[in-house]
Amino acid sequence: MHIRKMLPDNFIGLRKLMRVLGIETSCDETGVAIYDEQQGIMSHQLYSQVKLHADYGGVVPELASRDHVRKLVPLIKKALTEANCTHKELDGIAFTKGPGLVGALLVGSSVARSLAYAWQLPAVGVHHMEGHLLAPMLDEPAPAFPFVALLVSGGHSMMVEVKGIGQYQVLGESVDDAAGEAFDKTAKLLGLDYPGGPLLAKMAEQGEAGHYEFPRPMTSKPGLDFSFSGLKTHAANTIRQSDGSAQAHANIAYAFQEAVVDTLAIKCKRALKHTGLKRLVIAGGVSANKQLRQQLKVMMDSIKGEVFYPRFEYCTDNGAMIAYAGLQRLKAGEQESLQTKAQPRWSLEELDAI
Ligand code: KG4
Ligand code: ZN
Repeated sequence: MHIRKMLPDNFIGLRKLMRVLGIETSCDETGVAIYDEQQGIMSHQLYSQVKLHADYGGVVPELASRDHVRKLVPLIKKALTEANCTHKELDGIAFTKGPGLVGALLVGSSVARSLAYAWQLPAVGVHHMEGHLLAPMLDEPAPAFPFVALLVSGGHSMMVEVKGIGQYQVLGESVDDAAGEAFDKTAKLLGLDYPGGPLLAKMAEQGEAGHYEFPRPMTSKPGLDFSFSGLKTHAANTIRQSDGSAQAHANIAYAFQEAVVDTLAIKCKRALKHTGLKRLVIAGGVSANKQLRQQLKVMMDSIKGEVFYPRFEYCTDNGAMIAYAGLQRLKAGEQESLQTKAQPRWSLEELDAI
């Protein structure tokens, strides 16, 4: 008997090179991508719900879920068309299982689970932050293990020691607002639309140094935790006391961004010293910030270390990072049961090493 016959139809251990469909729906972006081990990203589709939530000044979970329901299946079709492939050429489906908004996660999870069942493929649930953390691996040169990862998104700020895939030790995290959240809240105070992080960064380009001094929270005592909510309060007071001109706003945006970037750089340096490592990975939405990239590059050059970022489109939420992380886990033999699952709260440290 041929060995293949003794194994379930969806057994993937025999195949050497895999191709995976990745689905991201944890928050306000519907992301779909197809990643092939040989060809890399074959298709990368993103639908942002930004306009839908802008009037509310933040993500409305119920609206987010409903919009994922509308957009996801057409986006999957578009991705397959762009990659010029059919489901028969796929080896698995990866979806974001958590953390995130439970309703939004359930949309991606049920669509992925159902398609995988219909197409007789394995499905695997991916940790959203593992997706962010591995996103720099989508490009060359990819960082080698071990490294320190600074994960800075709208929902999380974390410093992680990474020894391999699934070998994560959280060295520090935000005790209040995430870095992206602080950017967004301060941007709102400056009259910018949601999500204001990139708009605040743009406004800061018109700002001048030396007009305002913001604190560098939690840098004077030891440790790797962050706190950003005080910066937002400091910004609120500074804005109130300013003359309200466009230049004053730009100067405040400049000083705020400088404080966040400085604080993150100080903590990165500390984490590298603590772990004895010289390799740093920055990922998550805030890693798109040019000032942060620039300052960390200077800092890493000064200690003769290396710093890696995902390309801009893979910094914020996307399906490519989920396809990539899912492929690694499928290859290691992981797959979900037929039950649809979402895990809105999920620590990186709970993941299995592969
Ligand atoms: O990773 P992400 O897309 O979503 C979450 O998983 O949270 O991150 C989105 C966050 C938002 O807070 C957004 O304002 C911030 O990343 N962000 C930026 C920049 N681009 C995106 N913050 C500062 N500067 C940027 N250039
Ligand atoms: Zn994210």
